[in-house]
Amino acid sequence: MNPSRRNFLKKSAVAATAIGVATVIPEKVWSSEFAPSDKVNVALIGCRNMGFGILKHHLDTGMVNCIALCDVDENVLKEKLESVKKDYNQSPELIKDYRKVLERKDIDAVIIGTPDHWHCLMTVDACSAGKDVYVEKPMANTIGECNIMVKAAKRYSRIVQVGQQQRNGKVFIDCMNLIKGGEIGTLRKVNIWANFNYGLGAKLVDDGPVPAGVDYNSWLGPAQERPFNQARFHGSWRHFWDYGGGLMSDWGVHLIDMALWTKDLVEAPKKVITYAGNLSKQKMARETFDTMNVIYPKDDFVINYDLTAGIQQGPYNTAYGLQFIGEKGMLVADRSKYHLYPEWDGEKKGPKTEEVSFEKGHESHREHVDNFLACIKSREKTSCPPEIGRAAAVHVHIANIAARVGQDVLEWDDANNRFTNCEKANELITPVYRAPWKLPQV
Ligand SMILES: NC(=O)c1ccc[n+]([C@@H]2O[C@H](COP(=O)([O-])OP(=O)(O)OC[C@H]3O[C@@H](n4cnc5c(N)ncnc54)[C@H](O)[C@@H]3O)[C@@H](O)[C@H]2O)c1
Repeated sequence: MNPSRRNFLKKSAVAATAIGVATVIPEKVWSSEFAPSDKVNVALIGCRNMGFGILKHHLDTGMVNCIALCDVDENVLKEKLESVKKDYNQSPELIKDYRKVLERKDIDAVIIGTPDHWHCLMTVDACSAGKDVYVEKPMANTIGECNIMVKAAKRYSRIVQVGQQQRNGKVFIDCMNLIKGGEIGTLRKVNIWANFNYGLGAKLVDDGPVPAGVDYNSWLGPAQERPFNQARFHGSWRHFWDYGGGLMSDWGVHLIDMALWTKDLVEAPKKVITYAGNLSKQKMARETFDTMNVIYPKDDFVINYDLTAGIQQGPYNTAYGLQFIGEKGMLVADRSKYHLYPEWDGEKKGPKTEEVSFEKGHESHREHVDNFLACIKSREKTSCPPEIGRAAAVHVHIANIAARVGQDVLEWDDANNRFTNCEKANELITPVYRAPWKLPQV
């Protein structure tokens, strides 16, 4: 990185030391001083699983220095440091408090791979400290937090990539080209299914002592105080409302994002019709629902979402997937493949459209990271900016809120940020943060 840019970073960061207090707006974007050959200095916050995978994709580009690893679990930090040393010959600083990461003036961007309840605060603090952000999906654990994050990215002119990596996968890029190019005719319906065993949660265990090396209070952060329980901790937190939204939000944001992309929708839904239940006989550690059916009526098409946790099968022998249904044909896709099934034209005695197939798709995290790094340099919008992350997240959160308050039909007024037909639902729009943490103000 050239020296003038580093100087600018130093100057900006001085004013940004009061993390959590939105005081500094970078006076200019830094891109003009970012040469294409410059390496990007990143830190990873939340290192155990997905975050580390995303960091590795950054390092694999050869264009990134890992300056710091941050986690509240010492065991995770030690293990990941060894891996970064061995595989990339780099020695990042180990940091337990993410605010210390943001104080480091030489860090350009952070990757946030923590549980969902931390995404908002960390993203807003990182933006206000002048860092670009790759934040994992779902963008946040509530609608209110998503709204704050959208504002923060704008206010501080930051590049933000939300981890909905299918936006950079060949399979879904092809699908969108086929749909938008008219190959399936007028789109009328998108059917989505997501069935995964893990959606039932972990095995029930008693509350127990906090494992050595873990700062559990900082893991909880803004979430309400609760005794330590292994089944609510690493990995399995996603089935508890304070930290995640269950299978509905875990896979829902990825898949609903594809349905919204067909028409480039970034609006929240106006109406959501939800059935939810806990119908599995297996008793597992979970607050979220194991069975859900959600209908999202749109102006000129409808999205149907069908979720069954505890099984791994679904249509076409796949655990998850989408059917894009048009007048001329149906396109069926998952991350690895797609197939366009033409409708038959009885009069012309032939298919209404061309049959198309592709089978060699792969997970597209690397492409998503490449896009993030390119945007850090060009200062252009990422392929999944906060507006798109918010749209997908709001869809899943409204369905979860409907399920939690037992209101089958919820009507949402996005301009006024409230449900118009259920006061109880309005209580779940924005979380109450546990002191001393404060919901960020932007
Ligand atoms: N895009 C994808 O395909 C994809 C796949 C899996 C997970 N994810 C997302 O990635 C995120 C992480 O999921 P995971 O499965 O890796 O969870 P995980 O529980 O395995 O890892 C989370 C890590 O964050 C750490 N952490 C918690 N609070 C922290 C804090 N205050 N400061 C620093 N570190 C903290 C934990 O100690 C843990 O090491 C979630 O938002 C999840 O939805 C995305």
